[in-house]
Amino acid sequence: PQYENIKTDVVGSKKNVGIIQLNRPKALNALCDALFKELGKAVEDFDADEKIGAIIITGNEKAFAAGADIKEMQDNTFSSNTRQGFLKDWESVSNCGKPIIAAVNGFALGGGCELAMLCDIIYAGEKAKFGQPEINIGTIPGAGGTQRLPRYVGKSKAMEIVLTGNFIDANEAERMGLVSRVFPVEKLLEETIKLAERIGTHSPLVVKMAKQAVNQAYETTLKSGLQYEKSMFYGTFATEDRKEGMTAFVEKRAPNFKNN
Ligand code: HXC
Repeated sequence: PQYENIKTDVVGSKKNVGIIQLNRPKALNALCDALFKELGKAVEDFDADEKIGAIIITGNEKAFAAGADIKEMQDNTFSSNTRQGFLKDWESVSNCGKPIIAAVNGFALGGGCELAMLCDIIYAGEKAKFGQPEINIGTIPGAGGTQRLPRYVGKSKAMEIVLTGNFIDANEAERMGLVSRVFPVEKLLEETIKLAERIGTHSPLVVKMAKQAVNQAYETTLKSGLQYEKSMFYGTFATEDRKEGMTAFVEKRAPNFKNN
């Protein structure tokens, strides 16, 4: 499809990695409504495409995304937000069954940081900057910044980030556990594609189950999370791919997963 605010491509040696590049460079990829509608559609399409094993969301060297579009949002009112369900389009990203990796170079601020946190894994370039600067403009995070960030980095650091609006750099973000790895700027995308390809070698069905199980750790108590994990683990034994994986190991050959 033709998009105006994003670009999509299929990459990797097996052409099984879907990549979505946010593409409003003049506005530092500010997340306007139209961009989010396109992003949601692109994520849904890759999620439905059987050939795609994992999805990457990225920006450019200057910005992953500098937040929700302040110019678009400045005249919103409580009533208009409520009437339109402002931010409802963001759910298509969090509902995606396939793994989504954020490859962050440059600014990931406000809604940009929240978008990265909606993804399953965050890789960053050395010059990336993260922050929740909403407080500087008289508002607060609205797409997970006050909820997901504390789960990544703990209360004290999350409070500091949300209450000061200060930015943190890529290495700090990695030490805090927000980012899983940091790379030189020009290596980031290549390394992210490698990660997506690696995930793409596994059974898509079982990858989906694993993602759901890890996500339970964020949704529920330890006891019911462990119960959920056990049912999913038992559930893998109802799949052909589990049988193939173990048979291939015993026969000392590579598995041939069928997504079944
Ligand atoms: C709209 C934005 C924007 C934004 C940057 N721009 N961020 N437009 N919304 N969030 C535009 C600028 O207006 C400018 O366009 C162009 O991008 C370049 O930005 P500059 O400020 O000139 O660049 P620089 O001096 O390098 O500063 C970079 C920056 C700064 C530090 C990232 O742009 C900045 O502070 N941006 C806002 C960050 C922010 O507050 N984000 C949170 C938004 S609230 P023009 O045409 O004017 O020159 C939010 C709420 C989330 O995200 C709620 C749930 C989603």
